[in-house]
Amino acid sequence: MHKRVVHAKGAGALGYFEVTHDITKYCAAKLFSSIGKRTPIAVRFSQVGGERGYADTVRDPRGFAIKFYTEEGIWDLVGNNTPIFFIRDPILFPSFIHTQKRNTVTNLRDYNAFWDFLTLRQESVHQVMFLFSDRGIPDGYRFMHGFGSNTFKMINAKGEPFYCKFHYKTDQGIKNLDPISAMKIAGMDPDYSTRDLYNAIAKGLYPSWTFYIQIMTLQEATKWKFNPFDVTKVWSHADFPLIPVGKLVLNRNPSNYFAEVEQIAFNPGHFVPGIEASPDRILQGRLLSYRDSQYHRVGVNHLQLPVNAPFKCPVQNYQRDGAMSFYNQDGAPNYFPNSFAGPEESLRALKLDPPFKIYGEADRIDDGPTEDNYMQASDFWNKVLNADERRRLVDNIADHLVNADLFIQERGIRMFGRVNNDFGKMLYGTLNQLRCKRDHCKN
Ligand code: HEM
Repeated sequence: MHKRVVHAKGAGALGYFEVTHDITKYCAAKLFSSIGKRTPIAVRFSQVGGERGYADTVRDPRGFAIKFYTEEGIWDLVGNNTPIFFIRDPILFPSFIHTQKRNTVTNLRDYNAFWDFLTLRQESVHQVMFLFSDRGIPDGYRFMHGFGSNTFKMINAKGEPFYCKFHYKTDQGIKNLDPISAMKIAGMDPDYSTRDLYNAIAKGLYPSWTFYIQIMTLQEATKWKFNPFDVTKVWSHADFPLIPVGKLVLNRNPSNYFAEVEQIAFNPGHFVPGIEASPDRILQGRLLSYRDSQYHRVGVNHLQLPVNAPFKCPVQNYQRDGAMSFYNQDGAPNYFPNSFAGPEESLRALKLDPPFKIYGEADRIDDGPTEDNYMQASDFWNKVLNADERRRLVDNIADHLVNADLFIQERGIRMFGRVNNDFGKMLYGTLNQLRCKRDHCKN
């Protein structure tokens, strides 16, 4: 079997989601129907860029994907440990990923490609600052938050829609590694985070996360001060408070890694009635990409595998046969409509899927130059980071950026200088010092 094209190195565990607060006024999905209700889940944590045997303690976003096995089918919430993303246009995803992988000529990680792309697409600046901050190297998977990142849509039983974001906050507290410790661990115990997760669960120290939503009404969305479907920006908690929903608990290690972690296939296009996609362009791009990739990686019938099948409800669709099919739905008709008690449309799902208005022109646009790429990045520098954290952010960026060509370093200084003048100046000074040290200059 092929490895994942991204997020190849990872670890997984199983457990449950329990509802602690009533959100039925926003969402009719049955998994949220009553307080105390539990839904089985499978979770996979991952790094993004490295290969299957890569070290766990690298500076890279961490994937945090959850599969909910509900009685209405599978809901996959395929999130990361960051609330934002590098780009807001899915057409750029393959290019972005190429810059994080190996150079096609040298087979080495390529600092020029990394910084060339990111400084040419400056909507990335917010996520790049997060990545090079202290949170860029979590001390294992138990000690980080998770975020659905994209904007989703919830529908209540009356058919009323709401836009929403998902947050899952670690109950273990945030813990990060400093770069030197991370480097040492990468050499001594490259599977550090995998081991930590497995051992914690084996010892009965079940990690948990508190699950929240943020809600924006459709009216608010039409007049919000920035595009609410732009995944390079957060919705501030002051404007859209976190609403508690439940708990995620991981209390079982996989009984077999290959069967339950390697073959698991998360797909942001897997929804249950009551939860839907929004016009978020990155999410729209993701809706088809994962399945395409999994047809190739796992096989056309990957959804029949036990870890991917919706075991809490009957499977009814019109797909049959194909490589390694082992469940052909007992001869049920494979067409619709039919007169032989075959699968039917879900009336509940249809009712919960109200029409929505589409505004504006349909065109291929690049909103890179027109959207504000710096507002929230500046808030992050000015209001979130203290002086020590800013210093470490600059050092972490400089240690990496100094390996790129000088003209790219200069573009980087200009980009971070647009976030805050001091930021640009500090980076300029630190890069000069690093180059000087490297080149043994005299002054
Ligand atoms: C246009 C943007 C994106 C595209 C085209 C894309 C595509 C992909 C593909 C093809 C995979 C491999 C799937 C597999 O083989 O099972 C993957 C994995 C993954 N992606 Fe994305 N992705 C995008 C953005 C994002 C974003 C914004 C997030 C987080 C919010 C994310 C989180 C993940 C995670 C966590 C995995 C690993 C899932 C696992 O553990 O199996 N991706 N992505």
